[in-house]
Amino acid sequence: MSTVSNRARVRTFGKYLRQTRREACTIRFGGFLLSNRQTHNNMSQKFLSAVAARRSFYGIGSGSPISKNKITDIVHQAVKHTPSSFNSQSARVVVLFGKQHHRVWDITKEMLKPMTNAEQFPNTVKKLDSFRAGHGTILFFEDMQVVRSFQEKYARFQDPFGQWSQQSNGMLQFVVWTALEAEGLGASLQHYNPIIDNKFKDEFKIPDHWSLLAEMPFGERLSQPGEKQFAPVEDRVKVFDD
Ligand SMILES: Cc1cc2nc3c(=O)[nH]c(=O)nc-3n(C[C@H](O)[C@H](O)[C@H](O)COP(=O)(O)O)c2cc1C
Repeated sequence: MSTVSNRARVRTFGKYLRQTRREACTIRFGGFLLSNRQTHNNMSQKFLSAVAARRSFYGIGSGSPISKNKITDIVHQAVKHTPSSFNSQSARVVVLFGKQHHRVWDITKEMLKPMTNAEQFPNTVKKLDSFRAGHGTILFFEDMQVVRSFQEKYARFQDPFGQWSQQSNGMLQFVVWTALEAEGLGASLQHYNPIIDNKFKDEFKIPDHWSLLAEMPFGERLSQPGEKQFAPVEDRVKVFDD
């Protein structure tokens, strides 16, 4: 009985020592710990400010506040670091500048013409020309060969893999969108796929197993987006504690 209580006492004393050492460390390095924590807080605030500043910019021009190399580097970093299910890394991206970027919107026009009511077509052309007026376009794809290989490897996740691939690609689109706008560009997200898929594959030598998910025209900002309405966040988020 007394042995047990002695052991308990030793354990308690050990706990006390560890705690005291931790406290001493906090006092000794208190300033450092505090500033370290502050840095982290500022980082999240900077990140969330960039998230809040991202908007759909429809009035864009052919200039850019940053170089093509910088834009390409942003895309490289986004592709590398955006997460994917099972780290499958199935996202693929094509970045188009200059005449190649113009081709995206000329082809879209060609493809839409026979499908659009003649009266409506001038409006469609106006809209497509507003994207063509930009500095470039980014095309987002999923490599279906990779997605299918993971579906085969993990058969019980066959359906979710299809959804996860799209979710992961959406994250990538968001990272690129937010990063471009943090650099002062304006961008928007467009979906003329699947109408344009085959033509794009021929034009830009896209492998057959790459599935087009979104098009992001971007350029210098010529006009600001309108005010945005927000539903109450409290109705959209539940928090449970305890
Ligand atoms: C998944 C997704 C699909 C979208 N598709 C289109 C689209 O096809 N065309 C378009 O002009 N905007 C599209 N948008 C932009 C939204 O309409 C826009 O993000 C939303 O109205 C909020 O405005 P904001 O981007 O200025 O914050 C899409 C956005 C998301 C997230």
